Amino acid sequence: MNKDIFTRAFEKGMRITENHLEDFKGGFPSPASVNNRYPKIENNDWTAGFYTGILWMCYEYSKKKVFYDAAMEQIKSYRYRIDHRIVVDHHDMGFIYGLSCVAAYKLTGDESAKETALLAADNLKSRFREKGQFIQAWGELDTTENYRLIIDCLLNLPILYWATDVTGDPSYRSCAEKHLKTTRKVIFRPDYSTYHTYYFNLETGQPAYGATKQGYSNESTWSRGQAWGVYGLMLNYLYVKDDTIPEEWRKVTDYFLAHLPEDKAAYWDFHFMDGKEPRDSSASAIAVCGILEAYHQGVCDKKYVEEAWDILEHLADLYAAPENDEVNGILLHSTYGRLLGDGIDECCLFGDYFYMEALMRVVKPEWRPYW
Ligand code: GLY
Repeated sequence: MNKDIFTRAFEKGMRITENHLEDFKGGFPSPASVNNRYPKIENNDWTAGFYTGILWMCYEYSKKKVFYDAAMEQIKSYRYRIDHRIVVDHHDMGFIYGLSCVAAYKLTGDESAKETALLAADNLKSRFREKGQFIQAWGELDTTENYRLIIDCLLNLPILYWATDVTGDPSYRSCAEKHLKTTRKVIFRPDYSTYHTYYFNLETGQPAYGATKQGYSNESTWSRGQAWGVYGLMLNYLYVKDDTIPEEWRKVTDYFLAHLPEDKAAYWDFHFMDGKEPRDSSASAIAVCGILEAYHQGVCDKKYVEEAWDILEHLADLYAAPENDEVNGILLHSTYGRLLGDGIDECCLFGDYFYMEALMRVVKPEWRPYW
C-alpha cells in the first residue's frame, strides 16, 4: 500500500472543501450535485451531517481554524432543526446528528451539542415499533404503506448506543439491539445479498415481504444497500459483541466484492455488472469503510484490507473530482436514485463523506470515526 497516494487524495479533498467553503456559508450542500456542482440548501435533508462530518475530519487532520469555525457554526442549525422539527420525522438521526453533534461533543466536549444529539436520539427511539420490533424508517407511523425497516438504518443505531453510554439510560441501546436483531432476521437473502427494505404486517408485526425503494427491483440488490450492510454490521459489532456477526459480515462483504466491476466502482444496482448504466462510487467508498472497520476490530484478515486499499486506490485514481472553480464535490460518479431520476452520475454528499472517511482511516490509522 502506497500511503502517499492516499495522503495526496485526502489533502486534495480537503483543499476542495476549503476552496468551496463560501459556496455553502449559512447552509449545506444538497444531497446530490447538478453537473458536479452542489446547490446550497438549508439544514433540511438527511445528508446534512455528511458535510459537517467532512469539516470535522478536515479540522482534525489540519487543525485549521477555518474548518473548526465552519463546523461549529453549523451545530447551531442542528439544534434549531430538531427543536422546530424540520424534516425529522424519519429514522436518519444517526447520519444527521452523529457526524455533526456527537462528533462536536467528542472533539470539543461541547455540552449543547451533546444535548442536541440526545434530542435526536429520543426522536429516533420514538420510531421504534413494538409490533415487529423495528424502527420505522419513513413516513407516518403505524400506516400499512410505511410499516417497514430499511438496511440503511444500521448506521443510525450508533447514536442510540452512544446515548445510553452518556446518559446511563438503557432504553436507547435496548431499542437499537432489538432493531438490529430484527434487521438481521429479514434483510439478508440465503446468498447474502440484501433487500433494501422489509415490510411488516401492521396488525400482527409478522415479517411480510422485501421491497426496494432505490434499487432496480424488489429482488435485485441495490449496491449502496449492500454497502450499508457491510459497514452497518461492523458499526453495530463495535457496540454489540455478538459472535455471530463476523461470519455474517464476511458473507455480506464477499457478495459485495464479487459484484464489483474491474475498476472497482459499483454499478448502482448489482443487476448490472457491465455496460453503460451509471455507477455508484459511494457504495464502494462505504464498503471500504466497513472493511477497514472490520480489520480494526480484528474481524477480518489482511486479504480484505488489501481489497479495500485496491478499491480506494481506484477511486482516488479514476473517480476523484478535479480541483477547479466549477466542481465543488469530492467524489464523482455516485448515484442517489437512478429510477427516481435523482442525482444520477453526480457527486453525492454521502459519497464525498465516506471517501474522505476511508482515506482518513488509511492516512491516520490511529484516528477513530465519530459513529
Ligand atoms: N439512506 C438513503 C440513501 O442511501 O440514499
